[in-house]
Amino acid sequence: MTRKDLESTKDFDEAYDRLSRRVLWKLTSGLYVIGSHFESNYNLMTANLVVQLATSPKMVGVSVEVGSATHRLIMGSLYFSISILRHDQRELVRKFVKPTGELTGDSTLGGVEVDFCESGAPALKDCGAVLDCQVKSCLDYQSHSFFTAQVVGSKFMDDEDFTPLKISDTRMHYGG
Ligand SMILES: Cc1cc2nc3c(=O)[nH]c(=O)nc-3n(C[C@H](O)[C@H](O)[C@H](O)COP(=O)(O)O)c2cc1C
Repeated sequence: MTRKDLESTKDFDEAYDRLSRRVLWKLTSGLYVIGSHFESNYNLMTANLVVQLATSPKMVGVSVEVGSATHRLIMGSLYFSISILRHDQRELVRKFVKPTGELTGDSTLGGVEVDFCESGAPALKDCGAVLDCQVKSCLDYQSHSFFTAQVVGSKFMDDEDFTPLKISDTRMHYGG
């Protein structure tokens, strides 16, 4: 299927938009949980639009929906964490697609235990590895803001040889 195949289609723009979306879904990506905080508010959010940008300094980029709780919190604190999920943690992905609600006294968010990075950002206690990130810039792309951030902390939670979860390990799509 190409753009040319759609030329005679009645709603060409819509059909071509749908085609582009399906092609973009084929970009490979991992699945992560972004932890954010500002003052006494905390959140965890499922994300796949995460990428490394540079090695020295170590930089990453995360694309976050404008209007989301995560966006508001990152804009406030200028820090966030990335919890890298293990291959066996597929069921967590659906848990963090809406705001988690308040942090409980026993340090859970959305019913899941969290630890705190040095920056104060919450991260999953049970996951493969965690990056602590300090925002350096924010690029506005209407639907999403792309936060570039320096890695200021990193740790494996247990087994360094864990297999990270990929979006293609699930039936889910995002973006496109
Ligand atoms: C598989 C999957 C991947 C997602 N990836 C992203 C992402 O990269 N960036 C993003 O802002 N939202 C992403 N979302 C949507 C968020 O998880 C969430 O629904 C939305 O951004 C609101 O989050 P909030 O809790 O911060 O308000 C994804 C959802 C799913 C199911």
